[in-house]
Amino acid sequence: MAGILVINGPNLDILGKREESVYGKLTIDEINAKLEEKAGKAGKKIEFYQSNHEGDMVDRINGTDAEGILINPAAYTHTSVAIRDALSARDIPVIEVHLSNIYAREEFRHKSLMAPVVTGQISGLGGRGYFLALEALMELIDERK
Ligand code: DQA
Repeated sequence: MAGILVINGPNLDILGKREESVYGKLTIDEINAKLEEKAGKAGKKIEFYQSNHEGDMVDRINGTDAEGILINPAAYTHTSVAIRDALSARDIPVIEVHLSNIYAREEFRHKSLMAPVVTGQISGLGGRGYFLALEALMELIDERK
């Protein structure tokens, strides 16, 4: 594939129908469509993956030949050593995105196990965070060439 892999974790399949005041109105398909359009304009390949299952997400990370990963690990952000280790094993830029500001919410959300092993993190900007992350990721990928 090469290009960019976008990974969304648990319950992001119900985005748009889920706690709208926290996560916004955009569905995952709407976010992905916009990402696809932006990547296409920049001449970059992009692929999308959503799973509610930790091990499946690990398999996807381990199996990809993408040049960069944009990931919202959702609830696994705060719990998954397995996903963190999989990301840590990859020598490619990785951007962690959260729709909500995880630092302004319950205390258990303040810690991201991913943060120390990703290139950067965007939290609290809603769907916009994905679009900004894509721009940054494309630049980071180009800088490595
Ligand atoms: C989230 C924040 C997580 O704490 C939560 O479990 C999610 C979504 C976000 O995008 O704001 O499912 O990653």
